Amino acid sequence: MTRKRIGRIAIYPGTFDPLTNGHVDIIQRGSTLFDWIVVAILINPDKSPLFSIAERTEIANCVFDGMPNVEVDTFEGLLVDYAKRRNAKVIVRGLRAVSDFEYEMQMALMNRRLSPDLETVLMMPSEPYTYLSSRLVKEVFALGGSVEGLVPGLVEKRLADNSKLLPPFKE
Ligand code: PNS
Repeated sequence: MTRKRIGRIAIYPGTFDPLTNGHVDIIQRGSTLFDWIVVAILINPDKSPLFSIAERTEIANCVFDGMPNVEVDTFEGLLVDYAKRRNAKVIVRGLRAVSDFEYEMQMALMNRRLSPDLETVLMMPSEPYTYLSSRLVKEVFALGGSVEGLVPGLVEKRLADNSKLLPPFKE
């Protein structure tokens, strides 16, 4: 059942496959601006993720355990419908570089067309994370590179345990 929160609620939606320290950085910044920030993991049957929805939810719950105004949830379908159900007025997204801008602007303006009262807030992560993406983390790790400092320790452990990254990728 969807929890009803009181106060200014922001949704931080994404795939989070896996959660990176760039995502964590944005959540930490967002949690100071809003009463509640909901990490909303998209259930997308068309994609074949490395980590299942249950694994990504569990990882995010563990990582944000010490942050009382951060909630982890999943959603399907349109983000604007989910935001309405959660009574959220703000979507938070990270903006790493100019290359992100076009995609983020398209999404923000489409979401505004669908739901004019919903604002998108784009937040810049700390500089060390401006080149960081979940895709690169998976690629570097699968090819034997170190992702230390780029993802939470729990994600590093789960990457090592993940059978989908077995040889020929993982030694
Ligand atoms: O981490 P990602 O993959 O960049 O996140 C993309 C996400 C989940 C924010 C976006 O795909 C999304 O909102 N999907 C839900 C479906 C939807 O509302 N699509 C229209 C968005 S303009």
